[in-house]
Amino acid sequence: MLVGISSSAVYSWKDFFDAAPRYKYSRTLGRGGMSIVFLAEDQDLNTEVAVKVLFSRADQFDTDDTLARLKLEAQINRKIRHPNVARIFDIGQAGEFWFLTMEYIPGQDLSKILADRGSIPARELVPIMRQVALGVGAAHNLGFIHRDLKPSNIMIDTNGAAAVLDFGVARSVTGSGRTGPGIVLGTPAFLSPEQATGQVLDARSDVFSLGTVTYAAVTGKLPFWADKPLATAMAVATQPPPLEPLERCGAPQELIALILRCLEKEPSKRFADANELETGLALVPFKKEAPLPPELDESRLMSIFEERSEEALLDTTTLPTRTPCILVVDDDPLTRSLLKHHLETAGCLVLEAEDGIAALEAVQHGPDLILMDIRMPRMDGLDATRIIKTTPVGATLPVVIMSVIRDRSRLAFALQCGATDFIPKPLDITRTLATISDLLAHKGLRLSA
Ligand SMILES: Nc1ncnc2c1ncn2[C@@H]1O[C@H](COP(=O)(O)OP(=O)(O)OP(=O)(O)O)[C@@H](O)[C@H]1O
Ligand SMILES: [Mg+2]
Repeated sequence: MLVGISSSAVYSWKDFFDAAPRYKYSRTLGRGGMSIVFLAEDQDLNTEVAVKVLFSRADQFDTDDTLARLKLEAQINRKIRHPNVARIFDIGQAGEFWFLTMEYIPGQDLSKILADRGSIPARELVPIMRQVALGVGAAHNLGFIHRDLKPSNIMIDTNGAAAVLDFGVARSVTGSGRTGPGIVLGTPAFLSPEQATGQVLDARSDVFSLGTVTYAAVTGKLPFWADKPLATAMAVATQPPPLEPLERCGAPQELIALILRCLEKEPSKRFADANELETGLALVPFKKEAPLPPELDESRLMSIFEERSEEALLDTTTLPTRTPCILVVDDDPLTRSLLKHHLETAGCLVLEAEDGIAALEAVQHGPDLILMDIRMPRMDGLDATRIIKTTPVGATLPVVIMSVIRDRSRLAFALQCGATDFIPKPLDITRTLATISDLLAHKGLRLSA
């Protein structure tokens, strides 16, 4: 297979691996406009890595400039450190080749998945886009923007765990934004209007691109497309996104509204950054029923939920100055009483449950929000969350998990279960109350000062 062609030579991947004997070729993972990516074994550290080799030969670049850019890419990436961002390990030059090594993310990129499947149903897509938004949000918190968010830069494994690739053109919001000589940024279809028209960029440019990715994934169609790149860029800058594919795809109205907000031409009308977008995604109701875990008696669960009529719940939630009701689920009585004390002081009604099964029963009393521990006897917090979120009553009920999940697969699972947010344990009461207060505000409810 050809790695690249320069004016003086045609060379193959074998040349790269001859020049970099530390890495042993396993297979080719993909190729883009400027690079080819291999799976290889790092024989020094005995681990699998993804090696990205730049097409152009080292001698075609200004050596210092290229090295500086690769270093910057690795430095930005190191600072981000988030489970939903693929880590860069090292940069290097081997013979004529510039390369970087990064964490190998098993699975497929979103562009391949969309090519195979056409589109992804909202219920499956929302947890994926939440992970992507969390990864990009971690960069936004540090003042970096990605600038090249598109399906081929999003990897998804078979469990639905997602990682963002290529913070390679990411630059500090305040930095120069240059990416080096002769390099065209981004694919026109996923550009923001600001990028298409050469304006100054900030985090809201990434929000627009994430809107395009979400639109494309849920409908199977690009919102902005023309047969020539320049005309595509023009469409991004001037055309409204077609509504019809969104209305036909069966996505919840809340998700459609969220996508359209991302795709506003005027940045101030969009979400301020990827973290705000993630909160919006977290509040999209779970619409379709997910299969229950086999160990649960379905008829028993349904009888629990049928006891409580949906209308009764709607009646209570429309009262504006109601006392918020919080369900605290934890097997530790001390944690429960600590939370009960602080929540009551903040003007809440508090319900308690000592495990997942008890939580399912307590939900019929109509809490406005659930604080959920994970590890509990009988039924753990994630299983309980999954069941609650797939019922009509629970679809819009925020569930805050009391644990920080750093493992990518666990995080994916928690989001698939419908977890709305996470707070670390041991609990920081101020932070816990702030999280609860933000989520209640979306329901028009308030904690007392
Ligand atoms: N760390 C990785 N782990 C697994 N697969 C990867 C990794 N990095 C890249 N890939 C695969 O290689 C493909 C090519 O990546 P590359 O960044 O070279 O090009 P691209 O993103 O498709 O396009 P562009 O040149 O516009 O960036 C990706 O789409 C993905 O499928
Ligand atoms: Mg890429």
